[in-house]
Amino acid sequence: MTKRIMSSDLQLEDNEIESSIRPLSLEEYIGQSAIKENIKIFIQAAQKRDEPLDHVLLYGPPGLGKTTLAGVIAHEMDVKFKITSGPAIEKPGDIAAILNNLQPRDILFIDEIHRMSKHVEEVLYSAMEDYCIDIVVGKGPTAKSIRLTLPKFTLIGATTRAGMLSSPLRDRFGILQRLEYYSVDELSTIILRTAKILNTSLSEEAAVEIAKCSRGTPRVANRLLKRVRDIALIKYKKPIDGDICLKALKLLSIDENGMDELDRQIIHTIAVQFKGGPVGLETLAAALGEERDTLEDVYEPYLIKQGLLQRTPRGRMLTPYAYEMFNIETIK
Ligand code: ADE
Repeated sequence: MTKRIMSSDLQLEDNEIESSIRPLSLEEYIGQSAIKENIKIFIQAAQKRDEPLDHVLLYGPPGLGKTTLAGVIAHEMDVKFKITSGPAIEKPGDIAAILNNLQPRDILFIDEIHRMSKHVEEVLYSAMEDYCIDIVVGKGPTAKSIRLTLPKFTLIGATTRAGMLSSPLRDRFGILQRLEYYSVDELSTIILRTAKILNTSLSEEAAVEIAKCSRGTPRVANRLLKRVRDIALIKYKKPIDGDICLKALKLLSIDENGMDELDRQIIHTIAVQFKGGPVGLETLAAALGEERDTLEDVYEPYLIKQGLLQRTPRGRMLTPYAYEMFNIETIK
């Protein structure tokens, strides 16, 4: 009898691949060398004092491995790792339940911590500082406040927008680390490592080509590798070399600068529709039919880093370099 593959099986397989390509230890974790060096010292110091690690805030653009690094920290501390996210914690009672279920030294990871509600955030203040929370039991005149003592845990918060955290929350993190974009060399090493785990034959030259198109981001690098691997398997039926890789990237509409379709649309829309800018983010998002947050968090940081786009008080503007790189005539 043939086994029917359910969509949940495929999901499971995908998740299994995701977790197998994530490094477990600091040693396996590639790049972010300054952060790794610091974290290693803080972990060793906490272990030597037999204390939990101080609360950690990891911030920086999406896809740079904040969740991965938090998992690595838990592994190195040899403690349990519980993952949740700001928007998933709806009420103060939700965070109280999560905190109450932790064991001493456990690491609680809150992704997108800037998207937590104010009421939930307020519960975290005393939890982080004094390892206790006050919960109100009952209603009206008979309501009572009970103090709940929590195990000594470590909170690791991750955000793409450190500026959106309130200062009382930010100030309660003892360790603040900003993740940087990865170099082409580091990304090539990550890609070769992932290819090995996926049992895919990939030349060093091919890894460099994918790395150059990965926007300094391991998440993009691993995603491109998987798609190039699909194309090589079905269309070329050969191991992946530099030439096949370039053809596959072209099929994926990624140009030699690593820009995808939306990057090109952003640049062309500002150049043509808004005469180079300045244009407000809302207006630009509406013109492109895209989410404002996707533009601001995912696309803009890399375009700015590449020197193609500027954020000004009056809106977004193209730089002269953008006109040169995309071969656009100045229309002003
Ligand atoms: N996969 C994703 N990010 C990684 C990293 N920094 N090191 C190794 N493998 C990774």
